[in-house]
Amino acid sequence: MNPIRAIEFNEDKLHIIDQTKLPLLEEYIITDDFERVALAIERLEVRGAPAIGIAAAYGLSLSVKNAKSNLQQIFMNAFERLKRTRPTAINLFYALDEMKKVFNEHRTDENIYKILIKKAIEIHNNDIEMCDLIGKNGLKVFAKKSRVLTHCNTGALATGGDGTALNIIKHAFEQGLVELVYVDETRPLLQGSRLTAWELEKAGIPFVINTDSSAAMLMKEGEVDLVITGADRIVLNGDTANKIGTYNLAVLCKHHNIPFYVAAPSTSIDEKSQTGNEIKIELRNRKELFEIQDTKITSTDYDAYCPAFDITPNDLITAIITERAVFYPPYKF
Ligand code: MRU
Repeated sequence: MNPIRAIEFNEDKLHIIDQTKLPLLEEYIITDDFERVALAIERLEVRGAPAIGIAAAYGLSLSVKNAKSNLQQIFMNAFERLKRTRPTAINLFYALDEMKKVFNEHRTDENIYKILIKKAIEIHNNDIEMCDLIGKNGLKVFAKKSRVLTHCNTGALATGGDGTALNIIKHAFEQGLVELVYVDETRPLLQGSRLTAWELEKAGIPFVINTDSSAAMLMKEGEVDLVITGADRIVLNGDTANKIGTYNLAVLCKHHNIPFYVAAPSTSIDEKSQTGNEIKIELRNRKELFEIQDTKITSTDYDAYCPAFDITPNDLITAIITERAVFYPPYKF
């Protein structure tokens, strides 16, 4: 079976599987327009911290594909546009900054487009490697055949490779270490019930979808042995931003004495921030709470609270798994 790939770069075009349509429709956005890439990131057609960074790197390269003059202005305009798409996932800024360094070194080279694409492919390939290593490193946290609960989608759809937290679950399943996966549906955009479920089904891993609010009950009934989630940004003290609802899970784990793990590549570590207070949390449009796939479910006149992420304090995290190691507190990455 072909591996799932959220993003592919073929024949000078970016191919993005439209994650707003999955799992009911498998459609692709095929573009060589950086503005279309920016829109795809904003609309969550491509999503997940590593995948956002990779898409932005290709998008930025495409901005100079047909440019003959004013390259600096065209590149910086695309850079600023892509930078504004989503504020929390640090991978986006990491990838854009890497691309800018390469642009600045080679801006007068007539092959600048090819040079930028080469760098975007390198960022993509590095992510594939980091996913593999995270998958393997994460096996260390499985003491026995376990029932794992996860949140949002941290699989192939969220990365350039096979995923982070979900890739650990896939590796552990192959080793006979996973009995069942509880999939938080992940309101409001349902990355769990739509995307994680789709990936687990394809991988033949047994799973059950639960409403986010059922996690406490599951834990109380002794149904969950460990929780693994991903991260959009990890700061130096280990505080971690991830999909809204992750903090709830960590609090619940503490209460029920269940280990709570975070898995992410080093490109999700924000080396400039010391604590979670420095992380900017994205607020989404209230429409996302009031409509499901364009069907209204309540009055759109109501007010709503719609953060896309929350911050889990480091003292609730048992360990952080990266491609380099499994880090335990106090965190020194
Ligand atoms: O809003 P999303 O779907 O982009 O949020 C994604 C998450 O919160 C993931 O857990 C995180 O990006 C890690 S993906 C490997």
